[in-house]
Amino acid sequence: MIKKVYLETMGCQMNVSDSERVATKLVSEGYEITNDADSADIILFNTCSVREKAEQKLFTQVGRMRQNYGSQPVIGVLGCVAQLEGDTLFKRAPAIDFVLGTKAVGRVDVAIANALGQRDGTIPNVRVSDRHADPIFQTRVSPKFAKYIDLEEREIDYDWSVAQEQRQSKYVAFVPIIEGCNKFCTYCIVPFSRGREKSLPATEIIRHVLSLMSQGVKEVHLIGQNVNSYRPTTEEGLQGFKGSTPFSRLLRAVAATGIERVKFTTSFPRDFKFDIVDAIDEHENLCNWVHLPVQSGSDRVLKAMRRLHTIDSYKKKIDRIKSSPKDIALSTDIIVGFPGETETDFRKTVELVEYCGYDSAYIFKYSPRPGTPAYESYDNVPEDEKTARFIELERVQREVQLRRLQRYLGSTISVLAERESTKSEFDISGHSTCHKVVNFNGSRDIIGTIRDVRITQVKSNSLYGEVC
Ligand code: SAH
Ligand code: SF4
Ligand code: F3S
Repeated sequence: MIKKVYLETMGCQMNVSDSERVATKLVSEGYEITNDADSADIILFNTCSVREKAEQKLFTQVGRMRQNYGSQPVIGVLGCVAQLEGDTLFKRAPAIDFVLGTKAVGRVDVAIANALGQRDGTIPNVRVSDRHADPIFQTRVSPKFAKYIDLEEREIDYDWSVAQEQRQSKYVAFVPIIEGCNKFCTYCIVPFSRGREKSLPATEIIRHVLSLMSQGVKEVHLIGQNVNSYRPTTEEGLQGFKGSTPFSRLLRAVAATGIERVKFTTSFPRDFKFDIVDAIDEHENLCNWVHLPVQSGSDRVLKAMRRLHTIDSYKKKIDRIKSSPKDIALSTDIIVGFPGETETDFRKTVELVEYCGYDSAYIFKYSPRPGTPAYESYDNVPEDEKTARFIELERVQREVQLRRLQRYLGSTISVLAERESTKSEFDISGHSTCHKVVNFNGSRDIIGTIRDVRITQVKSNSLYGEVC
């Protein structure tokens, strides 16, 4: 009988993108992907560690699955928590059958076959010393728990492609261009869970984009922890394109494929050079949206965070972005309550938010992550103070946002019709080039097309309009 897999993804776009590939691999191996955990033979969690709450979610979910389902499905943990916790996960949650790190996800089929085999007795509990005897154990078995664990590097022939059915949208696709992070901001776990920066060859990225275009994809998102730190080992595929940084040359090379829309995220402020804005200005299909996480408005805090930019240098970049004739939308990430953040520091963050006029901002309360340098500092902003700052900054951002979004009222913007709206059966939902959610009147048959929409209403997190 065909085995069913339920796959739940937590965390960032990198995880979503990895999960798309995991699903692709499993379907090609004869598994079925289901949205119903209840009927699944195998349950996979692709996990996130970035804040304590994100990590906690895994344990809550594993507990729930165990309680709810008498059939005892195989449970596998993938991704960042898997990479960081390794086989201690088997101790913390004995229901877990296998653990696959961030680079091992391409071998998910081997892990599942092993777990199923152990369940039905066709694969004995193999000791580490036996593992070379059988190809299936060429990777790893935890000596302590006799369970499958693989925290190794990607296989050389790792397949970066995703089957169309496994993407969240038929018309929008994620294209990883760089993985890992070398920055080691003092609060952040990502360099430990994702390893060092590794850029994909430009030729491979271009091939990927061309293949997506032939499948009808209209918009690609070039993704990575820091896309603008893109630094491939070869210039192949980038020659002949203008720009002082490899990333801006890559942007122009992707634009030259002729795909309708190109977006990219996330940009690291220190490595954000003006040539990126030049490229956006000069290529119609490079979208007018930049996500540039500032984290704090205080130089003192930025230094303690090791962000490698100052407020002055950040503002210069914002000014250049704002000078673009394409009206580039801006978004950011901010952490409040970093150890040592005073009221004065926090006020500077509020001022900066007002200065930049972000179209949207993700605001987080600092969460100490074991193993990061900041974890060692005394977490001295009391929880209620962190909460108060969080609430205030959210309020300020809401006001800024509502004011900023008014500029779209009465204007006409280009929207990719992606799906029927969840709110009304007469509406279609999609994204603008400036990455706003736009709902508008329309019928199903326009899904997949790009339309000019006149904005008639501005809501707090979306726009409403009519097709011109
Ligand atoms: N590479 C990106 C973002 C990575 S994680 C960048 O450098 O901007 C996404 C966001 O999570 C970060 O921008 C940061 O705002 C937040 N974050 C990371 N670690 C955190 C922590 N320990 N506590 C609270 N927020 C955190
Ligand atoms: Fe984390 Fe900093 Fe790397 Fe972003 S740049 S992933 S915040 S260490
Ligand atoms: Fe989370 Fe890992 Fe992404 S920690 S934010 S899933 S890189």
